[in-house]
Formats: sequence, C-alpha cells, structure tokens
Amino acid sequence: MFNTKWTSDLVVGIEDIDQCHKYVVEKINEAYDRFMTGPAPDGYIFDEILVYMAQCFDYEQMLMMDTCYPDFLAHRDEHEIFRQRMIDIRTPRTASASLSIDQLVILDHWVNHHIRECDAKLGAFVGDLSGGRCKTA
Ligand SMILES: [Fe+2]
Ligand SMILES: [Fe+2]
Repeated sequence: MFNTKWTSDLVVGIEDIDQCHKYVVEKINEAYDRFMTGPAPDGYIFDEILVYMAQCFDYEQMLMMDTCYPDFLAHRDEHEIFRQRMIDIRTPRTASASLSIDQLVILDHWVNHHIRECDAKLGAFVGDLSGGRCKTA
C-alpha cells in the first residue's frame, strides 16, 4: 500500500511549511492506522487534513507572492485544482460520511507528489534568496 512517511527527503527547508507538511503526513498516517485497527475513520479526520492543507497552501502562496516566485500561478493552480477535487470527493458533505481508503490513497499520493515536485522547488528558490524578498534582475 502507498503510505507516505515523514522522512528527511520531504523536507523543503522552510520551517513553517515543513511543520505544516509534517502534521498533514502524520494525520494521513493516523487515518491509515485507523483503517488497519478499525473502525474506519469518519469524515472528521478527512476534513481535519484538508483544513491543515489549506493552511499550508495559504502560507506557501503568501510566501510566493512575497518572494515574487516565478512559478506562483502554476503552483497556486495545483493547489486550487486539488482543493476542487477534494470538494467533489466530499460531496455530499456530511461529517459522518466515512473516509474511504481510496480517497485516502488519492490524498496521500497527491501530497507526496506535490511536496516533492512543487514545494521542493519553492524551498530551493527561497533558500537561494538568503533571507531576501523579491529577486532583482
Ligand atoms: Fe505544500
Ligand atoms: Fe504547494
């Protein structure tokens, strides 16, 4: 089974973002554990993960604007497409609707891929700024 664990290769080097990602990954693991031990997790944990992810998205987007990140629009679009996909998955939206293992795997895959591909690039870019803000040409 695909199951992301929090390991150093997921670290992007921006402390607040790494803490946010770590919490999301831990919650995903908690959800997997509940599937293993039963009963299956209810929708609450799914919503909790999505709320935390939204905070990660917001923080990243603020940082991208602050640093004039050149791939801001593409990165933001990835967040928004994912957000919409999750809204579709959670419709009808009832707190008691249980989270399915398929939904959890989709979420887990996306988080893993997005951190490694998109967020890692942002981390490298911000690292190169050495504490500065927008790069000047
Ligand atoms: Fe992220
Ligand atoms: Fe991101």
